[in-house]
Amino acid sequence: MKTTIGKAISKASELLKNGEVIGVPTETVYGLAANALNEDAVVKIFEVKNRPRFDPLIMHLDRFENLKKYVTEIPSSFEKLARSHCPGPLTFVIPKKNLVPDIVTSGNPIVAVRIPSHPMIRELLSEVDFPLAAPSANPFGYISPTTANHVYRQLKGKISYILDGGPCKVGLESTILGVRGKNVVVLRLGGLPLEDIKASTGNVHLELNTPGLPQSPGQLKSHYAPATPLFIDNPGKYLKKFAPEKIGIIAFRQMYLEFPVEHQRILSPSGNLSEAAANFFYALRELDEMELEIIIAEKLPEEGLGRAINDRLRKASARKEPDESKK
Ligand code: TXA
Ligand code: MG
Repeated sequence: MKTTIGKAISKASELLKNGEVIGVPTETVYGLAANALNEDAVVKIFEVKNRPRFDPLIMHLDRFENLKKYVTEIPSSFEKLARSHCPGPLTFVIPKKNLVPDIVTSGNPIVAVRIPSHPMIRELLSEVDFPLAAPSANPFGYISPTTANHVYRQLKGKISYILDGGPCKVGLESTILGVRGKNVVVLRLGGLPLEDIKASTGNVHLELNTPGLPQSPGQLKSHYAPATPLFIDNPGKYLKKFAPEKIGIIAFRQMYLEFPVEHQRILSPSGNLSEAAANFFYALRELDEMELEIIIAEKLPEEGLGRAINDRLRKASARKEPDESKK
């Protein structure tokens, strides 16, 4: 299959109407989209992504008001959040109606829904009369794509079209929210900071690592992982074991003088965590493609989007804790 990149919404909507899977931009990360109401089309998403069927998909809608068609009851806390943050980088997990095929939710009675804000996917959603099931457009377990070219490099030959909406402004996947009784719980940290959610709903609980069945693979311990071993640490410590030119560095604000400039990525010289989030996956991917022996990342401040970046860093490094590898 030949894969092309373009900006033709009409072509993208035709392909979707024909039950095809395509790459689409969102403000968070690029998605791999298909008609959520067409089971055969949704099956193709799992195949292209090499994604296990137990891992449910997010359904993307044009407007929060249209949600009623697909879910049984919308919690009032979600209505309130939607008023200030939809469209935007947050996903709601809500009991579904039968109209939503089981394949989308991996057989769960609940469905994850999100109203994306990127103008191109919004236009696309207005051209079709169905919601779009879309996971991030990366092979399962790898770093999420934040440009059309990232999608192309990983999925070329497997999908026919990638809609190019430029680099993603948020750069991290959406924050996923559920409810327990009357309380809002965060199932995955993401593009909408915890502080913003608390401002709307009061205190929230985190349920990021529930033992047993992963509710959200963002909750699996190892995810978002580069091929190069990654540690969250102070780069200087690794100079004894590795040549400086074999070490990649992800730093928040400043370069390390004792390391080569070309293997360092500064996420935000001014210390802005939203800017750091927008650059994070891009930087990680660039370093991962450089045949380095190791990547060292600084831990970011545990506030705003720093929390979600640290969560990605921990998951990207989970397979290879320095101390565990010696055991
Ligand atoms: O920002 C985003 O959310 C991006 C863009 C493309 O919208 N999508 C995304 O999808 O990150 P994905 O598939 O990579 O991650 C979706 C997460 C998964 O961890 C999945 O398990 C969780 O959403 N999820 C989906 N349906 C769920 C459900 N019914 N209950 C709990 N978690 C669910
Ligand atoms: Mg993903």
